[in-house]
Amino acid sequence: MKISIPAETEAGEPRVAATPDTVKRMVALGAEVVVEKGAGARAGIPDSEFSAVGAKIANGAATKDADVVLKVRRPAKAELANYKPGALVIGILDPYGNDAALADLAAANVAAFSMELLPRITRAQVMDVLSSQANLAGYRAVIDASAEFGRAFPMMMTAAGTVPAAKVFVMGAGVAGLQAIATARRLGAVVTATDVRPAAKEQVESLGAKFIAVEDEEFKQAETAGGYAKEMSKEYQAKQAALVASHIAKQDVVITTALIPGRPAPKLISKAMVESMKPGSVIVDLAVERGGNVEGAKPGEVVTVNGVKIAGYLNVPGRLAATSSSLYAKNLFAFLELLIDKEKKLNVPWDDEIVKATLLTRDGVVVHPNFQRKA
Ligand code: NAI
Repeated sequence: MKISIPAETEAGEPRVAATPDTVKRMVALGAEVVVEKGAGARAGIPDSEFSAVGAKIANGAATKDADVVLKVRRPAKAELANYKPGALVIGILDPYGNDAALADLAAANVAAFSMELLPRITRAQVMDVLSSQANLAGYRAVIDASAEFGRAFPMMMTAAGTVPAAKVFVMGAGVAGLQAIATARRLGAVVTATDVRPAAKEQVESLGAKFIAVEDEEFKQAETAGGYAKEMSKEYQAKQAALVASHIAKQDVVITTALIPGRPAPKLISKAMVESMKPGSVIVDLAVERGGNVEGAKPGEVVTVNGVKIAGYLNVPGRLAATSSSLYAKNLFAFLELLIDKEKKLNVPWDDEIVKATLLTRDGVVVHPNFQRKA
């Protein structure tokens, strides 16, 4: 069994899909592991650490005879030309709205697994890349907000006077939002939060933040069986906007994390709401790559509107690439273990719930029911 870890080809991607820790475990499973020279450099892992645990360092992506390729991002068409037919490709493949790319994966004849499609069942938690990366993004959003904010977060009583605590509002209390709440609380801010899933209320309150939401009948039904949010009705969104508008005007920092799987991010903050905030306030839009929660947010930029900064950083988990790579690599290793049998042989259990939910392409075709017809 040969496992290849190529360097990521996208300029904005500093993460790597394996660490010395996971390579060591792969070697213990009998795998021959090849890491592309420099693959870990931007995540703070020199080649020597990979070779010290038994990996071979290759000049260029050594994917031609690899049975398994571990990636962060979806391989580009040019990379796929060097993959072995039948190879297992595992990564964050971003399948929604990318039909042409799925067709390329199918045409390359690889078995492509998209880790963000994992079912949210207990057995899959250890493999849950969305959670591991969102958690770090939530943390980093608060750190980024504090760096842009010209004031302190905690209340401070000093001889020169009292500094008030910053007011932080977190919109979307999923994995990222809950970590943002916890981080802002640790920094001493006064934190409020909102979400459309009723389960979020108790979680927000358990972190010491106040929950703010329109809690009507629609709200009570707003969670799918998978634990994700549904797209809310126009009426609900209008009520939510009215509530948020009056609250936002009093906030110093807003962090938005609201997402709906497979849909554009809901627009939660209008230009008028941004303009209602005090100059010097900061908004961090973690949903910017999926269309953004904030009107005026620009991917990859910090823009200033009426003195309010709106940060739209891309790939926020990549802003702490060492930590995000270490958790991501562990997620991928846990998934890989599922594909290896007791005799230490690759033996994909094609009927396993986790395999079926994540498998996009196999034997030259798109096999995932959600993407089949479109590709
Ligand atoms: P996500 O990244 O898809 O969305 C982020 C948050 O935005 C969600 O909490 C969602 O409810 C919220 N949101 C959507 N539309 C909104 C709107 N209009 N206004 C305000 N908020 C809005 O979700 P995430 O963070 O991946 O997970 C959601 C939940 O799934 C978690 O909180 C958790 O309860 C559950 N989960 C379960 C796991 C398991 O293995 N059992 C693992 C991870 C999460």
